[in-house]
Amino acid sequence: MIFIFLGPPGSGKGTQADLLVQKQGFQHFSTGDMLRAECAKGTEIGNLIKQTLSEGKLVSDDIILSLLENICNDVQGHMIFDGFPRTLNQAIAFDRQLSIKNHKIDAVIDFYLPTDLLVGRIVGRFSCKKCSSVYHDKNKPTRTPGVCDVCLSTEFIRRSDDREEVVKTRLDAYERDTTPLREYYGKQNILITIDASLDIETVQNELLEKISNLGK
Ligand code: AP5
Repeated sequence: MIFIFLGPPGSGKGTQADLLVQKQGFQHFSTGDMLRAECAKGTEIGNLIKQTLSEGKLVSDDIILSLLENICNDVQGHMIFDGFPRTLNQAIAFDRQLSIKNHKIDAVIDFYLPTDLLVGRIVGRFSCKKCSSVYHDKNKPTRTPGVCDVCLSTEFIRRSDDREEVVKTRLDAYERDTTPLREYYGKQNILITIDASLDIETVQNELLEKISNLGK
């Protein structure tokens, strides 16, 4: 099955996807992670992407779509697309590529929460430098202060686009370019909204319930 996780920055898409990977064996594809990996390589395109990310703007459809073919070739099992598609162009191109491979999107999970909660979630986020596990200063601290729960590393990083002054640009980009996808997927009757303002475990339970009810 193919799932799209749609939702503003900081709404918990990555956190919920990671839980589904750990507990249910889902595959998780995140364009944000893929773009950050490209930045780390220090290539010409990576440097261009790095600049765009640190300004909080969307990377061009051309760059994202150039990666599309590989993405569609890798579809198998239960797969979550997190942060993709993010524009109407990307959504239409993705539908087209999926249909060529005889696949289709089964559900689009719309993570809904009020904007005022998002900023706190984003600026409090940090992650393990070694295994990329994601934490939050208040909402999800490490069990032992300064030590990663998963790999016991003591080195942590914060994303360059998680600065308060960049967050507004990211939220504006979401509102302008990504919210039209709600209508696009709503018309296909595959949009499922969840209340992402609740705690991590409650959101996960709601998500599991809605996924298990699919097709019933
Ligand atoms: P991307 O990496 O996709 O970032 P995003 O969509 O902005 O989403 P985030 O990763 O910020 O948030 P999230 O919803 O995953 O929240 P998380 O689970 O971490 O994209 C980054 C950039 O790449 C974009 O700005 C753009 O430039 C570019 N890009 C990516 N895809 C693109 C595309 N398709 N086209 C063009 N450009 C693209 O949670 C946040 C924090 O809250 C964490 O600290 C977590 O511990 C905490 N938390 C999570 N859930 C809860 C909860 N229920 N209660 C309390 N705290 C919680």
